[in-house]
Amino acid sequence: MKAVVLGAAGGIGQPLSLLLKANPAVTELALYDIVNSPGVAVDLSHIATPAKVQGFLPPDDGLKKALTGANVVVIPAGIPRKPGVSSRDDLFKINAGIVRDLATGIATTAPKAFVLVISNPVNSTVPIVAEVFKKHGVFDPKRIFGVTTLDVVRASTFVSEVLGDRSLSLSVSVPVVGGHSGVTIVPLLSQSSHPLPASLDAAAVDVLINRIQFGGDEVVKAKDGAGSATLSMAYAGAEFAGKVIRAVNGEKGIVTPTFVNLASDRTGGDALRKEIGKDLDYFSAPVELGVDGVAKIHGLGKITPAEKALVDAALPELSANIEKGVAFVEAPK
Ligand code: NAD
Ligand code: LMR
Repeated sequence: MKAVVLGAAGGIGQPLSLLLKANPAVTELALYDIVNSPGVAVDLSHIATPAKVQGFLPPDDGLKKALTGANVVVIPAGIPRKPGVSSRDDLFKINAGIVRDLATGIATTAPKAFVLVISNPVNSTVPIVAEVFKKHGVFDPKRIFGVTTLDVVRASTFVSEVLGDRSLSLSVSVPVVGGHSGVTIVPLLSQSSHPLPASLDAAAVDVLINRIQFGGDEVVKAKDGAGSATLSMAYAGAEFAGKVIRAVNGEKGIVTPTFVNLASDRTGGDALRKEIGKDLDYFSAPVELGVDGVAKIHGLGKITPAEKALVDAALPELSANIEKGVAFVEAPK
């Protein structure tokens, strides 16, 4: 199982690479960045776990060498938000080109790899990867994922806080659907594995929803110029990558929310389009993972009228973000 991290020397890349090195199912780990990746690789290589670690820089075909033989490629390359950069969409100008170029490398060197996109804006960067793969004739919608796990992790944490017992956070599970930015992040609290206290009034539920949707802002503000979430994202990214690796190795029944192309499971994708009432090509929904990537896209299940309103509110921004990603590859600006 060869895992590759593109952007491995960054705030997310380093701790994510550490967690992947700690995963005994990973036998080879390639770290690529435009700076510092060889040092990070040598540092991690001393850890007594099976993975052989190597670091690569752009010269001498470094990207190609890193990607050769890759099974799973995780992409946290790109600039993060800071105060004054108010939305993830503001990152598009720089990150779209970075992701397009890295996707070109994957499409030409490791077209069968599972691609896990962390770089923001995820709602646009995932369509960018897909369009690049289409251009190279290697597009398989089952193999490209937008990582929305941090929203799921935040939902578990914040719900356990509302329940007054942080020890529950490991077992609290809340589906978070839609996309990965502000109002496109839709937590389905009515489906929480641990119901909210009946005493919680509507205003308090709204505060909880808002905190999950805008959790990223909380970190950007607290870091005060030093970037956005890195450690919690590394944890979330390693969780998701670990699930993909387990599914690829044959474990059945792993279901987790992720932002996917709805063509990856025609039946599930079509049913989901009907449920949301819009002809979108991408949506984050609970997805069953299998040996080939996406095995089944689940529907939203029974949602409340208030949750339906949140889904409706997400659709215009989501649709615009997706179109922007697609258009970028068709006609880069
Ligand atoms: P960072 O600046 O600390 O690290 C980014 C790394 O990417 C740097 O090491 C940089 O050298 C590298 N890089 C830049 N261009 C590259 C290229 N062409 N090829 C390879 N590497 C390249 O940023 P960060 O805090 O690690 O955040 C990275 C991205 O992840 C940002 O876009 C951020 O918004 C996003 N993010 C997403 C989520 C999510 O939930 N999906 C959560 C947090 C952050
Ligand atoms: C997050 O949710 O923390 C990330 O998408 C980073 C950000 O810009 O908020």
